[in-house]
Amino acid sequence: MQRYRRVFTPIQGGSLGTGDADTLESRLARVLAYHERTKHRVSGYARGPEALDWSGQPDPFRHFDGCARLSLPLLADTLTTPFSALSQPGSVAPQPVSLETIGLLFELSLGLSAWKTYGPDRWAVRCNPSSGNLHPTESYLLCRGIEPLDDGLYHYRCENHSLERRRGSGPAAGLDQPPELLIGLSSIHWREAWKYGERAFRYCQLDLGHAIGALRYAAAALGWQLRVVESADWAQIARRLGLDRRQDFVGVESEEAEVLLEVVTDRRDPTLPDLPIDPATRAGADTWYGTANVLDRHPMYHWPVIDEVAEATRRAGESPRQAAGETFPPLAAKTDPTPAATLIRQRRSAQRFDSGKALARDTFYDLLDTLLPRALPPWDVWRFPARMHLALMVHRVEDLEPGLYILPRAAGAAEALRAALNPSFDWQRPTGCPEHLPLFRLAAGHCGSIAKTIHCHQAIATDSAFALGMLAEYEAALQPAPWLYRELHWEAGLLGQALYLEAEARGLRGTGIGCFFDDSFHELLGLTGRTYQSLYHFTVGYPITDSRIISSAPYAERD
Ligand SMILES: Cc1cc2nc3c(=O)[nH]c(=O)nc-3n(C[C@H](O)[C@H](O)[C@H](O)COP(=O)(O)O)c2cc1C
Repeated sequence: MQRYRRVFTPIQGGSLGTGDADTLESRLARVLAYHERTKHRVSGYARGPEALDWSGQPDPFRHFDGCARLSLPLLADTLTTPFSALSQPGSVAPQPVSLETIGLLFELSLGLSAWKTYGPDRWAVRCNPSSGNLHPTESYLLCRGIEPLDDGLYHYRCENHSLERRRGSGPAAGLDQPPELLIGLSSIHWREAWKYGERAFRYCQLDLGHAIGALRYAAAALGWQLRVVESADWAQIARRLGLDRRQDFVGVESEEAEVLLEVVTDRRDPTLPDLPIDPATRAGADTWYGTANVLDRHPMYHWPVIDEVAEATRRAGESPRQAAGETFPPLAAKTDPTPAATLIRQRRSAQRFDSGKALARDTFYDLLDTLLPRALPPWDVWRFPARMHLALMVHRVEDLEPGLYILPRAAGAAEALRAALNPSFDWQRPTGCPEHLPLFRLAAGHCGSIAKTIHCHQAIATDSAFALGMLAEYEAALQPAPWLYRELHWEAGLLGQALYLEAEARGLRGTGIGCFFDDSFHELLGLTGRTYQSLYHFTVGYPITDSRIISSAPYAERD
């Protein structure tokens, strides 16, 4: 296959201008400057391309030329685990590890869920959502002791549900020991930056959080645990995923190392210390295979601030944090038999909402309850207290006054928020709200029109039952560890994934909203300074589906 060298036309977006020093302070300064600079404002959007040539969209599918490819089985229809069982601890028996179950893990998280056609346009959608459907997240499998896979590293190719062998360390070894299974994730910034310019780094991180959530739910449907390997720093992850092998990425878009996730496939205590992950301790004879494909032959822009903020947020080996204590009672058991595999694959972003329909109040409370952090999927994927709180704009919930509400999601968060938000807010407990659900009404009144304005004039924020912004505990989190900028976005993406699936489970639909006027939302809440920043928004309601869009099976060509 002919390989193209990219012709870089450097239409530059400028730099953060915070100097070259690599200290904690300078990293923090870069992160704060990046965030400020990439805010959308009523007076103007963050810097992005002036025009888009849709026919020049980067290839949404990465592959590596020169690798052996192994087709994964497609078995999602056979997995009957109910979605409702995922929130009942111990109720899903762990499946054995095999090519079939590894295939299911990918099929139900990062796999395609349909092809869509509208007129001459055809596009794929996946189990995980993505800003602009641009999908910057790539995934890898690291395994040892799982037959028939050789030990080594594989790239997951979602367009045909296969694994490409990037590194081989010989046939599966150590079969008498528990198998080792890790998933690595990376981001290709250019996929998002092509459309969204400088703000794209944020979207890549939000998408990453969605991908972590998608993997966590799929693992739970198989009875498996999934947890972030907190001892792995950026350089280790890049090395283990082969992303530092420049010779394999010559003249093509690079991939930024993000996270390693350990899949725990038996009932081992998930609070065990993290695995050592030094590849040097693994099998000796390593062979690497393949070179990455080019995604965009004619990139028209370059946004240096994305490289700068990426560098400033690379984790450099700080120690893991303490476990978060559970402070909320268990969720009430549910018996809905709908398989998780069905909900996961039918999940879609609503493009329009039915403004004539209101949500039952108990359903609203029940949905919010599932967003509280508990030792349950997806929240058990890491071990720190929740740092993201929800500010809701309630439009259509039966027997609930429209208005501005807040759901603090961690112990002590309500007091801190009360000190930071507009002092004239009511802080009223809404009627019928379960005692343990820390929901407060801040101000009564219709906020549909302001919700639309704040969300870049998008009607999905006002025609829904409710919209919300995710307020991150921002500056205090970043000061000691600027790399938490990425993790805060992952936490927001994880919340978004929970919202998508929990909405779907209730016959509702959600849509992530990355386009919002940051400081207009802060002003609405009376927030000043950097104590809190809203990182991601979401809207939920009864969808109106567009019957003109035709849907077809994701892997029909393989039948
Ligand atoms: C981080 C993020 C931001 C998004 N922002 C918006 C938005 O501002 N407006 C919108 O209509 N959809 C938004 N979406 C929805 C995506 O457009 C949608 O996920 C994508 O088109 C794929 O469709 P699907 O979710 O049905 O798979 C966002 C999704 C994500 C994950």
